[in-house]
Order: sequence, then C-alpha cells, then structure tokens
Amino acid sequence: MLGLRIKAITNLSASVQTVGVFDSGVGGLSVLKAIRKEHPTVDFIYIADSGNAPYGSRSTEFIESRASHIAGSLVGAGAQIIVVACNTATAVAVEKLRSQLTVPIVAMEPAIKPAVAHTKTGIIGVLATERTLESLAVAKLCRKFGQGVNILLQPCPGLVELVERGELSSAVTREYLRKLVSPLIDQGADTLVLGCTHYVFLEAEIRSIVGPGVHIIESSAAVARQTMRHLGSEMNIDPNECAGREIFFTTGSPENAQTVFSQLWGARVEVQALENRNAPVEV
Ligand code: DGL
Repeated sequence: MLGLRIKAITNLSASVQTVGVFDSGVGGLSVLKAIRKEHPTVDFIYIADSGNAPYGSRSTEFIESRASHIAGSLVGAGAQIIVVACNTATAVAVEKLRSQLTVPIVAMEPAIKPAVAHTKTGIIGVLATERTLESLAVAKLCRKFGQGVNILLQPCPGLVELVERGELSSAVTREYLRKLVSPLIDQGADTLVLGCTHYVFLEAEIRSIVGPGVHIIESSAAVARQTMRHLGSEMNIDPNECAGREIFFTTGSPENAQTVFSQLWGARVEVQALENRNAPVEV
C-alpha cells in the first residue's frame, strides 16, 4: 500500500513487529526518538502529514479525516500498533480513531499532571496548539489535576511551521519564543509543559531563554513506556528478536523533508512520498 520498501518489511517473519507512528509533520520524530531508545530492535513506519500541517487551527472534521487516513495507511502497511505522536490529533481525533481501528493505539496528552506535581510556585505554563488548548481533553486534565494550581495556557500559532522548516534556532524563532515564554515566567511559572511534539525540538532554545531554574516537561518518554507496555503484553512478542529499522514517509515534498528529517533525526535518512496521500478515508 505504501510502496515497495514497506512490502519488504511486512513480508518478514511473523515475529517481526511493526509500529506505525504519525504526526501532522516532523514533530512526532521527537516521540519516535524516545520510543527507539526504549525499543532498539523494533521496526517503525513513520508518516509525516506535512502536506497538511499544521493541524493546530484546522476543523475537527479535517483532523479526524487525516488521522483516519494516515492511521489506516499504517495499518494497511502492517503496523500492529499505532502511536499518535501528535497532541492535537490525540485531543481532537483519537476517540474516532479508536472506534475505527482494532489495533492498539497509543496516544499522548500534554504533561499537565506531572507539571502540577512538580511546581513549587503553583503556576505552570502549557505551550500547545490552539486546537489542543481549547479541547475538552485539556479542559478535563486541568479540572482533574489542576486543583489549586494556576495553569497558564499559551497557544503558539506559527511555531509548528518554523520547526517544519528546520528553523530551530533562527533569530525569528528565538524572538517568537521569547514573546511566548517570557510572560509565563514573569507571571511566576516555574514549570513549562511542551504540549506539542514539534516544540520538543525547540527545548534547547527555550532553555536558553528561561534559564536553568525552570522545569521543562514533555511526554515523549511516557509515550515510549506506554508503547513498551503494549509490545510486551498485548503483542506478546519479545522486542529483542526483531531487527530495528525506520521507514519514513511524508505527504509533503520528499526533497524538503529529506533535509529536515535528517536534521531532526540526527542522521541522514531517506524520506519517501506517501502514495495516495489525499485518498478518502479507508479504515
Ligand atoms: N505535533 C503536533 C502536536 O503535537 C502539531 C500540530 C499541528 O500541526 O499544529 O500537536
């Protein structure tokens, strides 16, 4: 379904497990990195929906439709577990996805709970997309875990686009980050949640703005542990028996993706165009 290299993977012995990971773009590579650390030998197929990024200001119908199409493509290519490496797609579309697919789905949420547990000032900042911050999912997290804590929700329109272009430390990115983050610190936040997987690649830049005293939390390690639990229990497969590979796809320009993927992954990687990138939902 996704091309020859995928077929090569799915034709391997039955003990090989394949994990499908997707995001609106390159941000989910931060999650894939964390999972790869936990699972050195598992095969991954990663799809970046960069041709449709950002999701952060899109309608529910659009995000649900894209998530269904991409996840369906991953399952069609042999993925036995789907990791939604996108806070926005999780907040908006994961319930629908779960009703459509039978494979286990690991999803993510902004790390509000650990941030609340960590704060000493009683003030935390959450950086995320507009759709994530206005979602019922985040409202529930704030209600459930945020008693007695002031949670400052900071939408960051345009930030995903900068990461999609690989602009992790340009003057424009730094200036914009300062505008987003400084007011949170000025209001007393001692803990910042990176509630979008793209922002994880900006952590060094954010750190240089806020200094060493502010705690920065994101969810990729928790997602990796959750994925491990699925691999260990539900799939009943020993990860150590498998050979680990990553296959990368994009719905955007593969030429552009090649450069940014390699930059973010930390090694030169090949990125293929996703066939049927705009096909109707088939799950
Ligand atoms: N990486 C996605 C997230 O975690 C970015 C969403 C977007 O494309 O706006 O929310």
